[in-house]
Amino acid sequence: MSCQHEPAQRIVAPVRKPLLESLHWLEEDLGAIKSDDLFRPVRIREGRQAGTVTLNNLELINFGSNDYLGYAADSRLIKASAKGACSEGAGAGASPLVSGHSALHESLGKSLSSLLDTEESLIFPSGYAANTSTIACLTGPHDLIVSDAHNHASIIDGCRLSGANVQIYPHRDVTAAASLLRSIPARRRLIVTDSLFSMDGTIAPLADMVQLAYDTKSMLLVDEAHATGLFGTHGSGLIEDAGIASSVAVRIGTLSKALGGSGGFVSGHRTLIEYLRHRARSWMFSTAHPPASAAVAIEAIKLLSEEPFRREKLTENADMFRQKLSSHGVNIGDAEAHIVPVFVSTPQRAVQIAASLVRDGFFVPAIRPPSVPTGSSLLRVSLSYSHNQDTIDSLSNSIIKYVCM
Ligand SMILES: Cc1ncc(COP(=O)(O)O)c(C=O)c1O
Repeated sequence: MSCQHEPAQRIVAPVRKPLLESLHWLEEDLGAIKSDDLFRPVRIREGRQAGTVTLNNLELINFGSNDYLGYAADSRLIKASAKGACSEGAGAGASPLVSGHSALHESLGKSLSSLLDTEESLIFPSGYAANTSTIACLTGPHDLIVSDAHNHASIIDGCRLSGANVQIYPHRDVTAAASLLRSIPARRRLIVTDSLFSMDGTIAPLADMVQLAYDTKSMLLVDEAHATGLFGTHGSGLIEDAGIASSVAVRIGTLSKALGGSGGFVSGHRTLIEYLRHRARSWMFSTAHPPASAAVAIEAIKLLSEEPFRREKLTENADMFRQKLSSHGVNIGDAEAHIVPVFVSTPQRAVQIAASLVRDGFFVPAIRPPSVPTGSSLLRVSLSYSHNQDTIDSLSNSIIKYVCM
């Protein structure tokens, strides 16, 4: 089984064709995006996602991936993927309900349920699909969804798809969420939150939210996309860490960040999963997650229990990094984990500082609207097990130099 890198293909620019009359409005809209400094060119990555990354032919130290435990390029996961593809094929070939749900998917469901201490789990092609489908499936036009202002786009889109009355509460403000839940009549109520927020690195007040869900007879859905694999004794996430595993009705996560692979999941009571199998449209009407990706996730879950030192080192490094930036007056907001935002005044400033960091050898993405609310811009530093203390120290020196000058 060879894992050699293929040589990069030479890209030949195609002859530019005239834009159809009916699409001219796109040029105007793109012009506005460019003049607001919100245009996003796609970088081409060569080779693997790892501690260093080659983007547009430049090798940089990588602070811009969600590969928090350094598993994306791990040879054990790559071998598991190849073995999974050899035994079950390159693609699932059908939606799960037809014939796409393979023995590897079945086994992954069991591994996840055992890691999360739930009854059953359902695998989706992505975390995005898991969120949109599950939210839209659990709520409808006569229902109320109460959603944190900083929730991820996939939660926002699920809320929109549901047709429910969607009310947004200020970030992590449980009192405001409570007053919405108590004052608005609805058939069913759903509270939805990220556990670790993907852009500002803050943690939701999960224990208070469990209490609120109980008091208001609401369903509670927690998206652990950036926490799965990283918190709690077994590494299942912040729900485990908070000791509330049996009180969260709907647990969502991804296999595509700390677990180094691809896919999403919903986990919980058997009845919930049975219902989703009959109603979750992106599970029912989309080709199943590739079997090789299921094999990768099974291996990654196994490694979580064998290698807790990865998440421990990441936590230590992240604490040290945040402390250093804060002590030099860099605005990192209320970040409390391995995602560390550096808030700056404008999108232009974010882009300028990101470019300066590239000159120093670091890749740190500039995050601008619509990834964050209009009016806020930041550099999003994602720390990983793959970084060592010296690299993290050099990055903090560069950030302090550019942000504080
Ligand atoms: C909080 C959150 N939920 C869900 C997702 C979607 O997960 P996936 O990348 O597996 O589609 C993301 C992706 O960045 C995320 O940040």
